[in-house]
Amino acid sequence: MSEKVYLRLGTRPAPYPDSVRARLEKDAAEIIARYSPPDAPDPQMARSALLPLLHLVQSEDGYVSPTGIEFCARILGLTGAEVTAVSTFYSMYRREPTQDYLVGVCTNTLCAIMGGDAILESLREHLGPSDDTVTLTHIECNAACDYAPVVMVNWEFFDNQTPESARNLIDSLRSDDEVVPTRGASLCTFRETERILAGFPDDRLGAVQAGGTAGAPTLAGLRVARRAGMSAPAESEPRDSGEAPIGSEAANAAAFTKDKPAPAPGESVPPEKGH
Ligand code: FES
Repeated sequence: MSEKVYLRLGTRPAPYPDSVRARLEKDAAEIIARYSPPDAPDPQMARSALLPLLHLVQSEDGYVSPTGIEFCARILGLTGAEVTAVSTFYSMYRREPTQDYLVGVCTNTLCAIMGGDAILESLREHLGPSDDTVTLTHIECNAACDYAPVVMVNWEFFDNQTPESARNLIDSLRSDDEVVPTRGASLCTFRETERILAGFPDDRLGAVQAGGTAGAPTLAGLRVARRAGMSAPAESEPRDSGEAPIGSEAANAAAFTKDKPAPAPGESVPPEKGH
């Protein structure tokens, strides 16, 4: 029977000091218990804890450090390469040390043409090559395109930004002012945010709100549909099933429905004021 042989390239990173390791192990046990309860442990299910564990080490180090990778690997019985493969796949895991505020400017298509590129350029100039408080980066679409151009600070949204408003935002962060995003509670630091993302309580005032509704830009298309009297196809009609082989039953159904009106807005869409 063949046996796996692991090769280590480079030196092993220094482990966490004992007191830090003990604290992180206690937190890690709490996280892992969500997937693999201590009374019925399941090592395969425990591996699902890797994503929150990566946030946990970011809350300690400000990024996914080599020491943090080794910690996650040891706790979950993975190799450092496996942990690295996961952490480098997702853009929320940082590969380099991050200051208190991670400022991300969306430069995907819609934000870019609405001014995202200009905002990023302006902030680069404003911040210079390095800053003690802010780490600047560009980010991919965060599904807030209806409020483009969007800037995120520690993953909280700042909608409809301009180069000037974004520079003012940076100045407030540097001055340690209380900064409130477009939605949600006042910002906390990157490391505090990462602990929340690891699944620990978010005690900020207003962080967890019940209710609320989508904003006007989000509902605009549905309101147009309502005014135009669009209606959904009846349940019995075939629906557009996307990419289906030509000539297949699904493709015929797609052709049948492709020129039909879009589904009508649901009753839950609040009417626009004045309509
Ligand atoms: S393109 Fe910027 S949030 Fe979607």
